[in-house]
Amino acid sequence: MFKLKKTASSTKARLGTLSTDHGKIDTPIFMPVGTLGTVKAVKQDELIDKVKAQIILGNTYHLYLRPGCDIIENAGGLHSFINWDRPILTDSGGYQIFSLSDNRELTEEGAKFKSHLDGSKHMFTPENIVDIQRTLGSDIMMVLDECPPYPSSYEYAKESMELTHRWEKRGREAFLNTKPKYSHKQAQFGIVQGGTYEDLRIESSKYVTDLDFEGIAIGGLSVGEPTELMYEMTDLNTDYLPEDKPRYLMGVGKPENLLHAIARGIDMFDCVLPTRNARNGQIFTRNGYINIRNAKWKNHQKPLDPDFPTDLCQKYKMSYIHHLFRNNELLGLELASLHNLTFYLWLMDKVKERITNDTFHTWYKEKAEVLGTKI
Ligand code: GUN
Repeated sequence: MFKLKKTASSTKARLGTLSTDHGKIDTPIFMPVGTLGTVKAVKQDELIDKVKAQIILGNTYHLYLRPGCDIIENAGGLHSFINWDRPILTDSGGYQIFSLSDNRELTEEGAKFKSHLDGSKHMFTPENIVDIQRTLGSDIMMVLDECPPYPSSYEYAKESMELTHRWEKRGREAFLNTKPKYSHKQAQFGIVQGGTYEDLRIESSKYVTDLDFEGIAIGGLSVGEPTELMYEMTDLNTDYLPEDKPRYLMGVGKPENLLHAIARGIDMFDCVLPTRNARNGQIFTRNGYINIRNAKWKNHQKPLDPDFPTDLCQKYKMSYIHHLFRNNELLGLELASLHNLTFYLWLMDKVKERITNDTFHTWYKEKAEVLGTKI
């Protein structure tokens, strides 16, 4: 499924291709998040034509609760339901149970929880989360895991990791013993956990590698730990992961985080940040980020960056975008969301160019510094 094309000189950055029945994905890649089967405020054809998204994310927890698996199955699966014929990755929902449901209980069997929508009771197990994702028909499904909070004690992180490992083993068996419901193949990724403890991270990398998933995600990071610690854990994990499998850093991050993680051997990312922050007025540019709600843009009568290929940058004066945001106009949210995602995918293209021509190592740190600066 994954072909490693190149590893950069002087860093662990990689170029690869991930093949699915809905198309190929060139890595490193950023996957826009469409939790409920929609990337908020961006149309599917814009994701293809403008953002150049190669794969998007959906969430099992949310889609299972609403509209429910029966509706999606009747529609012919998630691709058909949302009118998207490129690859889709679905997260397992383990993470959402812990962040959204106020009433949850972990047992050996699985995770019991109450819906954040109506309080109804449910249970996810390593096996039924495979079945649900078979019904959704995502190209890549994730195993059920527990993402411990930061900080967690060593004992908690260890027990949590061991439970996740037992779930992953069961999840892998369930995947290998079942078949896709639709005509395309599905892959399953495992998830490395272990909190912020080096020995646990190493143990988890080895354990998950041995289960021979089609790809391996690094979970449990970007949950409030210092950024340097996130980089250290990522660096450590990738040292123990196989070269020939894609590595996916879950829930990361800011543009500068992506560059640092790519240098540490990561191939795939997802994060709500570009779309969520767009809706709050944070706009990423090649020279740093801005907040469009800031008074400094109120009477700025020029476009932001006529050389950058988004409507927000080229077609409208900043004073107008500022005005849209101050009035909570929907067009502002649309322009900013489309822009930020286009920016993220543009950044991944730049990364690929830099790895291709062997200049990534001399470029990424300085670029990360610039992108992380408010202008
Ligand atoms: N999204 C961000 N972090 C995580 C994680 O640790 N596990 C899962 N399943 N999803 C995530």
